Amino acid sequence: MPELHPQCEPLAPLLGTWQGGGTGQYPTIDDFAYTEELTFGHVGKPFVSMIQRTCNRDTGEPLHSEAGYLRALPGGDLELALAQPSGVVEICLGTVRTTPDGLAIELRSSQVGLTPRAKEVTSVRRELSIAGLRAGGVTLISELWMAAVGHPELLHHLRGELTKQA
Ligand code: HEM
Repeated sequence: MPELHPQCEPLAPLLGTWQGGGTGQYPTIDDFAYTEELTFGHVGKPFVSMIQRTCNRDTGEPLHSEAGYLRALPGGDLELALAQPSGVVEICLGTVRTTPDGLAIELRSSQVGLTPRAKEVTSVRRELSIAGLRAGGVTLISELWMAAVGHPELLHHLRGELTKQA
């Protein structure tokens, strides 16, 4: 295993595989519940890879998935390049902050790319936080807001809660 790049040090608590689930909403759709698996990896360069898969909690049918890279810059600044099979590509900018028992990541899209037949998404905000590192009950909370399908303001779409797999 290569050594973690020093710029990725603040992201170290993310590394590994997380499982759990969450709930979702948007004014244009029915509320839903999902299960999620999220894996962060590194190769010694100044980025962390992320791959996520979700399923419908009731039926087990695959839902959203995404894959991309969190690019770690000096001083805790972050860039995210993320692709989704729905035809949405997010470029987000943000920061990672070390907290007393974990970390807090905030990201805002600077660009959203859409394939010609993708649904309209104009802006995305993401928050990822890890808590409980000191107590041993580590959880990762992930929230997402989006401006999409005719809603120009950022509205809540997802909240997930995951635990680290051994
Ligand atoms: C945990 C991850 C996610 C899950 C489980 C999820 C799930 C869902 C579900 C079940 C729907 C309604 C049915 C459908 O249109 O497929 C939906 C709609 C949608 N989602 Fe997500 N989603 C996730 C992440 C995202 C992300 C990251 C984006 C964009 C940045 C996004 C954008 C949309 C859009 C644009 C719609 C369509 C709303 C409409 O047609 O009115 N979703 N999502």
